[in-house]
Amino acid sequence: MAVSLGGPPGRGGGVVVEARPVVRELPAYKPGRNPADLAREIGVDRAVKLASNEVAFPPLPAVVQAIAAAVAETNRYPDNGAVVLTAALAERYGVDPGQVATGCGAVTLCQELAQAYNDPGSSIAFAWRSFEMYPLLASVAGARAVRVPLVPGRPGGVPDTHDLDGLLAAIDETTRLAFVCNPNNPTGTAVRRAELERFLDAVPAQTLVVLDEAYREFVTDPDVPDGLELMRGRPNVAVLRTFSKAWGLAGLRVGYLIAEDPAVAEAVRKTHVPFSVSMLAQAAAVAALGSEDEVRARCAAVTAERERLTAALRDRGFDVADSQANFVWLPLGDDAAGLAAALEARAVITRPFAGEGVRVTVGSPEENDVLLAALDQVRDDARVP
Ligand SMILES: Cc1ncc(COP(=O)(O)O)c(C=O)c1O
Repeated sequence: MAVSLGGPPGRGGGVVVEARPVVRELPAYKPGRNPADLAREIGVDRAVKLASNEVAFPPLPAVVQAIAAAVAETNRYPDNGAVVLTAALAERYGVDPGQVATGCGAVTLCQELAQAYNDPGSSIAFAWRSFEMYPLLASVAGARAVRVPLVPGRPGGVPDTHDLDGLLAAIDETTRLAFVCNPNNPTGTAVRRAELERFLDAVPAQTLVVLDEAYREFVTDPDVPDGLELMRGRPNVAVLRTFSKAWGLAGLRVGYLIAEDPAVAEAVRKTHVPFSVSMLAQAAAVAALGSEDEVRARCAAVTAERERLTAALRDRGFDVADSQANFVWLPLGDDAAGLAAALEARAVITRPFAGEGVRVTVGSPEENDVLLAALDQVRDDARVP
């Protein structure tokens, strides 16, 4: 909001302190629906939130213990270098700690990458639609956002899949960053090994390709490559991951970047917002890494539910692509906002993209059943004259 300072001219009199034009044009933050508020508003016991791609499981027991132990230290600043977490990540993924940067969620690492690589006038290329932060962080960096439209992943299908040839063609000498969100948020589709390798081999050396693998742990198709493998031997490739989804730490805010070239991780560390990975987040992430078997079992439960939900949605006539993430995409075009509103009136919160589709997070089996029942109700109500 613009602030009028008042007072005589020369000391801000009558002057409105305005944010930069690009910032004024950014959409204002719109908080998502809170399930407890919605339940109260529509007079039901419980609303189901399938909007933010969180996992429905409670925090891991080891995480709860680690946070409880760390609480006693919170009068101190956290370790700004996240040394213990960085070492744990390096060991887990077989890289040098110098190749790792941690951040206050992967989203902050995206911003730090733009700060590290994008001068005004440069560009950031990515598929569209994809993770909604990409164009915003380009704007804030004063960089051009180059959106490359998705293409149909199936013959006759809707555009829901990366066009890596198109992305390659869109990269020019101004392009410092190219994001490949794999699997793609919000469509859930994933690019396969051969096409991604071909793309990485062709991208010019001055463009850093960021493989955003926020949903990597939910990938079940063996032909969808692990970005960390493709990164090896390619100094202009970095991989972004997060503890927010599979690892169940969305509320704590911690993600990480692993780069083949340690200079990339160092550039990101230089733009790191100091102390922004809290002490609790660091302790929780280390504990979560120590509970990987449990995390894998949870991911298997989520992906089994994903397949059940996909089949049930297809039975109901929805054109659902195979998802490799913990959400599914309903490509409803102009009906997207209406369906999301109708579901919300029935206590189910989803994530609509007006004019395009509705993204539905895979919840617990019970939550998914609530969603399916709500969809049936919407359909039955629509039939009533
Ligand atoms: C593709 C993608 N990348 C990055 C993020 C950021 O995750 P976080 O900041 O919670 O680590 C998200 C979150 O929704 C995402 O969908």
